[in-house]
Amino acid sequence: MNESRPTSMSSFWMPFTNNRDFKAHPRLLVSAEGMYYKDVDGRQVLDGTAGLWCVPCGHAQPKIVAAVREMVGQLDFAPTFQMGHPAAFDLAEKLMEYTGHKFGQVFYTNSGSESVDTALKMALAYHRARGQGSRTRLIGRERGYHGVGFGGLSVGGIGPNRKSFGPLLPGADHLPHTHNLQKNAFTRGEPEHGAELADELEKIVALHDPSTIAAVIVEPVAGSTGVLIPPKGYLKKLREICTKHGILLIFDEVITGFGRLGTPMAADFFDVEPDMITTAKGLTNGTIPMGAVFTKQFIYDAFMDAPAGIELFHGYTYSGHPVACAASLATLEVFKEQKILEHAQGMQAYWEDAVHSLRGLPHVIDIRTVGIIAGIELEPIAGKPGARAYAAFKQAFADGILIRTTGDIIALSPPLVLEKQHIDELFGKLAKVLKNLE
Ligand SMILES: Cc1ncc(COP(=O)(O)O)c(C=O)c1O
Repeated sequence: MNESRPTSMSSFWMPFTNNRDFKAHPRLLVSAEGMYYKDVDGRQVLDGTAGLWCVPCGHAQPKIVAAVREMVGQLDFAPTFQMGHPAAFDLAEKLMEYTGHKFGQVFYTNSGSESVDTALKMALAYHRARGQGSRTRLIGRERGYHGVGFGGLSVGGIGPNRKSFGPLLPGADHLPHTHNLQKNAFTRGEPEHGAELADELEKIVALHDPSTIAAVIVEPVAGSTGVLIPPKGYLKKLREICTKHGILLIFDEVITGFGRLGTPMAADFFDVEPDMITTAKGLTNGTIPMGAVFTKQFIYDAFMDAPAGIELFHGYTYSGHPVACAASLATLEVFKEQKILEHAQGMQAYWEDAVHSLRGLPHVIDIRTVGIIAGIELEPIAGKPGARAYAAFKQAFADGILIRTTGDIIALSPPLVLEKQHIDELFGKLAKVLKNLE
């Protein structure tokens, strides 16, 4: 195992990173097990973010590691274009079971961004297959994050992610975001105020006409923008309006899928049935890149009515990669055997109390929690947005906890196998960081 520092850092152009600052002050991880990373200096770092929201079962989970090792030696690659291998089909069946048979099929991708672009393309092609090819508009939401493909960026609503990349897809529009600090600060679970914001969809529909709209895509809980939890009743209203106008509703569950709220999907937690769900991350416990789009049976059926031949001209070389399938099959087994969902549910109250115990610390202007997620919003330093939280992130890492920040919001999402002592350690150290923050 290479645990030494790299000889040079100049050639790796790091994603979503302040490259110059990082390379001047690197933070290098060399191994991981359970709830902890180890850094290049041999220090233990408690993982408060499950990597990037993607390791629900904890790091180096033995069953998943063994499954990956075995499959890579047995079937390193097999195409899924006009070919197949058993694990891809077995996994699809298990995923249907995991989601309570609410969906009919699953389409494999390699990332959240690809899942989103796949779902958006499927929505367009679905309407076209049914003779409604005029439905080409895609509706997202302000502050939404749907990855970095042109489709996901077009429906996404985070300004800095979009501004350098031109006009993006034509015909996209956006719902307003639901964040309301005045009315909803320091809520636990779904905030009281804001369900009426879903009615803005009626205005968008009236403006463009339903016959031009293919799909609405939202994150049930927006993560990357800093943990925005949907107001009570909001998602149900979106569902009703979409159904009324024949618009497909897509939930982007790349971070909320696989147990983050203590239910299989966030859709189960909020008791709303979307027509498609996009996933990635926790699908393989983060070990091997993989994404999956869950679709309702009626969507698949619309394609199967076409004349014989390839029904959907879309796919990736690595769709259903055997090693990723093995990792995902093992992940689902671990979910069952270790009762990951039940454990997450059981930790929820302790988690929530611990997060809200930070209320009153310097600069903390909001705390929001749902499932095993927390958003802690800090007052920005005047003229330097994001600087305060970034300083907290760096200090936290120096003190042995990995947190994630976006703007001036700290977003926490540890592995779901956490125990009370990890929560105590995380918030004990974070409180100290916040108390000493400029
Ligand atoms: C809701 C959501 N959608 C899509 C993505 C993109 O996933 P990826 O980085 O795997 O492309 C993310 C990543 O964090 C996400 O949070």
